[in-house]
Amino acid sequence: MSEKPENRNPSTTRRDRRSFLLALGAGPAGLSAARAVAAQGSRSPEKKPIRLGLIGCGGRGNYLAQKVLALAEEGEPVGFTAACDIYQPRLERTATRLKAKEYKSAADLVRDRNVDAVIIATPDRVHVYNALEAVRASKDVYCEKPLSHWAQFEKLKELVREVRARGTVFQVGAQWVSDPMWARAAKEIREGAIGKVVHAQTGYFRHGDQGERGMKIDDPNARPGVGLDWEAFQADAPRRPFSVSRFFQWRLYLDYSGGPATDLYPHPMTRLFKALGVGLPKKVVALGGRYVYDGGRTVPDTFDLIIEYPEGPNVAVLGTIANNTGIETVIRGTKGTVAYTGDAGLAFSPQPGEDAPRRTIRTDRTVAEHLANFLQSIRTREKPACDIELGYRVQVPLIMAMLSQIEGKVAVFDADKEEIHLV
Ligand SMILES: NC(=O)c1ccc[n+]([C@@H]2O[C@H](COP(=O)([O-])OP(=O)(O)OC[C@H]3O[C@@H](n4cnc5c(N)ncnc54)[C@H](O)[C@@H]3O)[C@@H](O)[C@H]2O)c1
Repeated sequence: MSEKPENRNPSTTRRDRRSFLLALGAGPAGLSAARAVAAQGSRSPEKKPIRLGLIGCGGRGNYLAQKVLALAEEGEPVGFTAACDIYQPRLERTATRLKAKEYKSAADLVRDRNVDAVIIATPDRVHVYNALEAVRASKDVYCEKPLSHWAQFEKLKELVREVRARGTVFQVGAQWVSDPMWARAAKEIREGAIGKVVHAQTGYFRHGDQGERGMKIDDPNARPGVGLDWEAFQADAPRRPFSVSRFFQWRLYLDYSGGPATDLYPHPMTRLFKALGVGLPKKVVALGGRYVYDGGRTVPDTFDLIIEYPEGPNVAVLGTIANNTGIETVIRGTKGTVAYTGDAGLAFSPQPGEDAPRRTIRTDRTVAEHLANFLQSIRTREKPACDIELGYRVQVPLIMAMLSQIEGKVAVFDADKEEIHLV
């Protein structure tokens, strides 16, 4: 059985984009940032308006913008003052709709004094650079998952150090973790509800490569130049000749993505890790490959990883994009089990003869609330639902898994030196 939220995945973006365009065309969602901020500010005088900059005006960026504008309509004093993209047609389209100032470079946008915080929705390889620039410019950050590309461990550590040192409010865009049931489960598990946690599993199963191959090529004749900054797109990726597929369908290529493992697994992993409260791993091993989909892609379509933590638990994360028959998300303790039952929530049950609770923690959150949680954290300076520490604890095993699968070795984490070694 596949679990619904795992299958509500990033590839729904194009449909979301269409509804966003319709919503904007229809009216109030198209309010300018200044008007939205002013209007909302007058309704909630005690709340200072939050002025956002959007970095990355593609599918996800526009979807999140729509969600922010919906929050503004509901009374949250928030709006966009700036937008950035290195592809002119997308930048123009989004900036015009948001009535935001246009920037061709994120480094310039983060210097804008009319921006308090940024939303980063660029391709994976660019996240860590955008985020570092924003954090160093004292902006709070909502950064889409994955926190970094799989080949950027050193840069990722730099970002984490910088966020810690500056006290930045940093929300990673793994939105399902904003459902408070995961934090509640974490508390109960920490307090011993199911005994010592020894094993856990989760996964992401889907049928069809719509998330990768399905990315739309806006313009087959697009070329690098004034309106398309190919250098900025590549960030620290190996230099390749421009191709429209690489630019518009970047999820197909290991240079810019890790495939389903880094694109999809952050969702189930983040909420599972929130409940588990695990730290950094000891070892990770991963297997997988391109078993079904090819046509020039370099990312695997099927990918399984197992993480070993010091003193346990073992965590298995499995998946393929060629079949949507999923596995349950389960946490196994010596006294009881927690099973994610989709819409019903998290079911606790005892092991035979053990004194563990039998009950369900109900589910109750949406994507907008992850953004609302970010805005709330900016105001209170409290940690958001998916702060940099949780994001890092998800990203490290993902990086290790990618290296393990690609190199055919076991990835070992040296906790003293904070290094990954392949053996
Ligand atoms: N949380 C979720 O459920 C979810 C869903 C979809 C996508 N995402 C994440 O959002 C990110 C974007 O995905 P997408 O589907 O919107 O991709 P996309 O290709 O549609 O959009 C990315 C945009 O970033 C722009 N860009 C590239 N390099 C840039 C740079 N250096 N500076 C500024 N802009 C740059 C591109 O021109 C493009 O417009 C990805 O990291 C993805 O994992 C998350």
